[in-house]
Amino acid sequence: MTLVLGIDSSTQSTKAVLVDAADGTVVEQRSAPHPQGTEVDPRGWTEALAQAAGPLLPRASAVAVAGQQHGMVALDEHGDPVRPALLWNDTRSAAGARQLVEEWGGPEACAELVGSVLVASFTVTKLRWLRDHEPESARRTHRVLLPHDHLSQHLAAPGTPAFTDRGDASGTGYFSTVDDRWRPDLAAAALGREVALPRIAGPGEAAAETRAGQVLGAGTGDNMAAALALDLQPGDVLLSVGTSGVASERVGEPVLDGSGLVTGFADATGGFLPLAVTLNAARVLDLQARLLGVDHDELAALALPAPPGSHGTTLLPYYGGERTPDRPHAVGTWTGLTTTTDRADLARAAFEALACSLADTVDALTARTGSRGGAPGRLLLVGGATRSPALQQVLPAVLGREVELPEPGEYVALGAARQAAWALAGTPDPPAWPATGTSTLSAEPTPQVREPYARLRERTADWS
Ligand code: XUL
Repeated sequence: MTLVLGIDSSTQSTKAVLVDAADGTVVEQRSAPHPQGTEVDPRGWTEALAQAAGPLLPRASAVAVAGQQHGMVALDEHGDPVRPALLWNDTRSAAGARQLVEEWGGPEACAELVGSVLVASFTVTKLRWLRDHEPESARRTHRVLLPHDHLSQHLAAPGTPAFTDRGDASGTGYFSTVDDRWRPDLAAAALGREVALPRIAGPGEAAAETRAGQVLGAGTGDNMAAALALDLQPGDVLLSVGTSGVASERVGEPVLDGSGLVTGFADATGGFLPLAVTLNAARVLDLQARLLGVDHDELAALALPAPPGSHGTTLLPYYGGERTPDRPHAVGTWTGLTTTTDRADLARAAFEALACSLADTVDALTARTGSRGGAPGRLLLVGGATRSPALQQVLPAVLGREVELPEPGEYVALGAARQAAWALAGTPDPPAWPATGTSTLSAEPTPQVREPYARLRERTADWS
């Protein structure tokens, strides 16, 4: 049996899956936690990589790394980090994002230039923050990599020139999905000096070799890898509920959205993957469980008997600032609390808030992609938080449509594994693996829950 290794270096942890290259059957999987926070020493990731993937790697003929998008790994001329990496959910570069959008001629022009309107997640805004707040680190920055590039580099044979793929590159803000190429001039203008960028490897390319001579695929961003694993078909929407909540869809042409709600990324197969992202997803439930002093099973058990609408209790869950809509300094807001509000209302309101926020991302996406015209495809739901029976009930109710739940799996790591198998096979298309089994979630539609949520969202628009 030929085995390939797929790695997911996500915000919270590294997951590694060893699979049969012929059909994607998982043979073994391991994981290791990451340091917490929105700025992280990349050595924390390489240590987790060694722990999770190290024991599996010798058995693999090929490997690829998928990772959290956007993070700025700024390296000096010796390849050492000049400072901890700033992650996708670090909003300190919000002012830099606004500045750059203005410098590039406004939101519409920005979308025409690079494919997306910049928000604080984009790497280029972090370069601008570095120039303005840590000039000494900016001066020492010789090369900028994304988290997945940095880890590929770590696995590659010494002397391998750094490489990335167009999927993850498209989240930097200095790769144009319109022209399909780097814009080093934009990176240099943001940082105030020229900076080296990695080579862009092709989707199914054997981009390099590991130290042990195994094939190393190009790797990609986590959202692109999940789309590859699930083999998204035209019209399918993938809703991923992890640290971030992401609605994405595979399309053939770049989507340029001047409103900034949808970012026009590239995918891992040569196409495009527009997506809408909320910064607050699983943590809305984590925080609610903590506030109520319960675990996740108890949170779901508390929420399920409460009625839709949680007796008028409404939460706007923008606890860590938000990206859809773009409110980097927002905070969470509760309304409708009365003397009879109980723990069940508070629990259910958290699930409804998450569902409403995810519904906003799906609406933003489908309003701008082909699925608005043709017959809608499936809505696939993945991510750790989707194991909650309360979310499984509340989400289809709030969305007012059936949701397909793929069997539990590490889809980002599986997408990286499929990419590794592709690079090993050297074929024009990714290997055909059997389709993932899904179950269908349906519920009585409760669209009325979205109304007080939408009012609260609009009322708070200028609060921060
Ligand atoms: C996508 C995004 C997040 C990260 C999380 O634009 O910011 O989904 O990729 O890992």
